[in-house]
Amino acid sequence: MQHQKHLFDLPKNSTYLNCAYMSPQLKSVTEIGLKSVSRKARPNEILPEDFFAEREILKQRFATLISAPDHHNTAIIPSVSYGIANAARNTPIKKGDEILLVDEQFPSNVYIWQEVAQQKGASIKIIKPLTNFEQRGKQWNENILNAISEKTAVVAMAHVHWADGSLFDLKAIRQKTKNNNAFLIIDGTQSIGAFPFSIQDIQPDALVCGGYKWMLGPYAIGMAYYSDVFNNGTPIEHNWMNRHNSEDFNNLTQYEDRYQPKAARYSVGESSNFVLTPMLIRSIEQLIEWTPVGIQEYCQKITQNTVNQLRSLGCLIEDDAHRAHHLLGIYLPDQINLEQLKTRLKEKNITVSFRGNAIRVSPHLYNIEEDFDLFLEQFK
Ligand SMILES: Cc1ncc(COP(=O)(O)O)c(C=O)c1O
Repeated sequence: MQHQKHLFDLPKNSTYLNCAYMSPQLKSVTEIGLKSVSRKARPNEILPEDFFAEREILKQRFATLISAPDHHNTAIIPSVSYGIANAARNTPIKKGDEILLVDEQFPSNVYIWQEVAQQKGASIKIIKPLTNFEQRGKQWNENILNAISEKTAVVAMAHVHWADGSLFDLKAIRQKTKNNNAFLIIDGTQSIGAFPFSIQDIQPDALVCGGYKWMLGPYAIGMAYYSDVFNNGTPIEHNWMNRHNSEDFNNLTQYEDRYQPKAARYSVGESSNFVLTPMLIRSIEQLIEWTPVGIQEYCQKITQNTVNQLRSLGCLIEDDAHRAHHLLGIYLPDQINLEQLKTRLKEKNITVSFRGNAIRVSPHLYNIEEDFDLFLEQFK
């Protein structure tokens, strides 16, 4: 695959290596967004059926991206915290149970579990990596597997760690959770779109994804998948659109106990969002065309030399078998001064993220190998 710079609108003099923070927008997505904003000037042209049609398309596209057999298992959400809250509300947890989280998870997949643990008398167990870097990813995965027991009610974690790109073996984790009747809830925000994922393969109970990072969508819209175990659950809020027969605008006050099929009950109110929905449809369509496999291969191609060189400079980067290629954590050796490096990167207009003594670098198809040459130069 070739770079796709021309499809984005990034300034020429900047090197943006921070998609894990927020993706730049495809020109085609901006165009649809602008058109969609203008549309509200003529509300007479927005018909009752428009409240439903694009929502359905978005759910279908997301289902394709994650290889979910039925798009009715998906829902439109405004944020990851919202999507996880729906899953947490409907996960069976009783007194004495354990909720397993991975160390330093993003807060949207932590706070809700703290609340649930407190309400139900359950405890939270956090699985840490080794402090030693040797075999860190392998050991971390083993620690997670070893921690799952008959006391585990749910494992709530990511596929790729948001801070350093560590890759978790969800297939093995799913198997162990199944053997112990535990739920598996995935935050896919830092992987879906850029890293291959198949619902059919992993079979999680739920998968929740923010849209504005690797799905290349706008801010404040995301997507979730809820397996059939959630089909009869209680959503965290109640909106008219998710109820049975909501298409019939003349009879909305014939209040309905029944919901639309499957996971539709978990979509946020006003999920027909006439601006954000078509934008996210377009970006997911582009990702389906590129494929997450293609994106991984491309990111590997443009980063591999830099990864090797950084390792020879004494930087620690997770071993290749236990990390993704679109999101790298670089832990600096003592002889590299972080403050100096930050200044140099800023002077050269190179954007990355910093966490403690580590740098997070997250490229996409708008980057080229020369971006990494420039990044590497700042270390030397
Ligand atoms: C792993 C992960 N989950 C979720 C989010 C965003 O969560 P929310 O949509 O609740 O703001 C981020 C943002 O950085 C993230 O990295």
